[in-house]
Amino acid sequence: MKRRRIYEGKAKVIFEGPEPGTVVQYFKDDATAFNNLKKGTIEGKGVINNRITEYLMVKLGEIGVPTHFIKRLNMREQLVKQVEIIPVEVVIRNVAAGSLAKRFGIEEGTQLPRSIVEFYYKNDALGDPMISDEHITAFGWASPMELEEIVTLSIRCNDYLSGLFYGIGLKLVDFKLEFGRLFEGEEMRIVLADEISPDNCRLWDVKTNEKLDKDRFRRDLGKVEEAYQEVARRLGILPEKSGDSATESENVSPFVK
Ligand code: TMP
Repeated sequence: MKRRRIYEGKAKVIFEGPEPGTVVQYFKDDATAFNNLKKGTIEGKGVINNRITEYLMVKLGEIGVPTHFIKRLNMREQLVKQVEIIPVEVVIRNVAAGSLAKRFGIEEGTQLPRSIVEFYYKNDALGDPMISDEHITAFGWASPMELEEIVTLSIRCNDYLSGLFYGIGLKLVDFKLEFGRLFEGEEMRIVLADEISPDNCRLWDVKTNEKLDKDRFRRDLGKVEEAYQEVARRLGILPEKSGDSATESENVSPFVK
């Protein structure tokens, strides 16, 4: 039986799940930057991001943030609830870096006066343009109530994750979240979806400011694989033999034939 591929993104593939209302997220080693202009592979990234996302989604679930996560299936796959993805990327920033530092001419590493929430329209063809809440509600990408829920949840995630990472000597500089609509009977809820990993977070060592995230790939800083491993190691979840293809092939989900 071949699983139906529902969607292929830059870092993940979404397959049909084993039962209705579920899908499987497969984490690839592929990495892109600058809206696909730069392409590469980060060996073992998929395995690590699968574990890190599992760990963080479970933790966020425990503090009451609804998520799409159900369970990890194997080295590269996790079972999640099927949701209707809202085409808005929510970026939460604590420290100036990346496009914010560039846009406003602020030195990278400057602490922001308070956390800043930004929105981008999730559309590769347009290069994910920055948008405001007005665009989101006027174009109907989310209703005002949905957007309020999304912002509330994003701030809760930021507060919790900032503390969690600080506890392992990492500064959560900024990160990107995606949300979806989960339909349960007559009810609809907004839930956290996608992934949370060094692909979509900036994580700096608290003492040295060393970058331990995808900026190492974007900016050709070297030691890319090591950075992802270091984050997993500090979280206490470095998988044995990460990226070991023999281990991976023995460890595929039972419904994949
Ligand atoms: P930026 O500074 O390039 O706007 O990125 C802000 C944060 O969002 C950073 O942690 C990386 C993440 N991000 C994504 O996850 N996907 C993207 O396409 C972009 C541009 C940023």
